Amino acid sequence: MATRILRPFNLHTISRALGSTGTHQYLSASRISPLRPFSTSFRKYTPPTMTDALVQAAQTRRTIYKLGKNSPVPNSKVEELVNAAILNVPSSFNTQSTRLVVVLREEHEKLWDIAIEAFGGLVSTGAVPEEVFKNQTLPKLQGFRAALGTVLFYEDPAHIKDFQEKFPAFSDKFEPWADHTNAMHQYFLWTALESVGFGANLQHYNPLIDAKVAQQWNLPTEWRLVAQLVFGSPEVEAGEKAQKPIEERVKIFGKL
Ligand SMILES: Cc1cc2nc3c(=O)[nH]c(=O)nc-3n(C[C@H](O)[C@H](O)[C@H](O)COP(=O)(O)O)c2cc1C
Repeated sequence: MATRILRPFNLHTISRALGSTGTHQYLSASRISPLRPFSTSFRKYTPPTMTDALVQAAQTRRTIYKLGKNSPVPNSKVEELVNAAILNVPSSFNTQSTRLVVVLREEHEKLWDIAIEAFGGLVSTGAVPEEVFKNQTLPKLQGFRAALGTVLFYEDPAHIKDFQEKFPAFSDKFEPWADHTNAMHQYFLWTALESVGFGANLQHYNPLIDAKVAQQWNLPTEWRLVAQLVFGSPEVEAGEKAQKPIEERVKIFGKL
């Protein structure tokens, strides 16, 4: 596995912020930046704040496409993070309409085989030119398949429907709000998985793969697939990211 160059990042603080109480022996040594030495004689150690940890985790989250099958953490950590998303990410009117499905290793490969097969179908009907499929789509999908796992983000419309009936004044708002809450789950897990050493990228092969995926894992067909977060061992560094000027994007009026 390629060693990922560390950005300013302290796993101790990140996992504390995420509520982890365990030791970090599962983390690859290359990911752990040395903790600031503690000395009582001349300087009191000030632990970085939770806010710093949150900002560092946000800075560390990037899109990485080249992913492998090594895991920096045990299965239980992935489960802990997925459960933390479900329990702590807010939803409009507390609808809790988001559903998360995680597929790992062989199950993950089945998911991307489904996507490859679905695209193959589009080639047969002429909707996608064979050259495009062979030179662009297939290598991309095989790249996702080479990763370790995927989180599938769903919305269960049954929960939204109840609220639409109960609050007709907001009826047309519940669907966009459901997408907002779904996106918050995506962002939380993207950031959390990268904070423990995974790389990840976000994909949208819905609705092309929805029916086959529901059939493969016996999921309710009414669940709406919103996004797929592919994760695995980062095999390359994230590329440079151009930033538009902050002044164009942020306005603050008044003072604290
Ligand atoms: C709502 C949303 C949808 C995205 N959809 C895709 C996608 O379908 N395929 C993809 O490769 N990347 C997708 N991305 C990733 C963005 O291209 C990426 O986040 C952006 O270029 C910034 O790079 P960074 O993630 O490294 O900060 C999506 C990101 C967001 C926030």
